[in-house]
Amino acid sequence: MSRVVRLQPCPGGPLLVRGADVIVDEDGAEHPVTRPVVALCMCDRSARKPWCDATHKAIRGDVR
Ligand code: FES
Repeated sequence: MSRVVRLQPCPGGPLLVRGADVIVDEDGAEHPVTRPVVALCMCDRSARKPWCDATHKAIRGDVR
């Protein structure tokens, strides 16, 4: 049975992933997904990679 994983890029922010069981990072490390939706860091500045920790907002100047 196939499974649908949905990806939704947020401009200037993370990539939202719905329906995944595991995320494999660039080093091959597996990160189990425990929530229906997770946000992957696309700015490479998160302290919790591969997850977004909202650092992108500070980079964009949204948080002061
Ligand atoms: S996209 Fe949110 S911290 Fe990188």
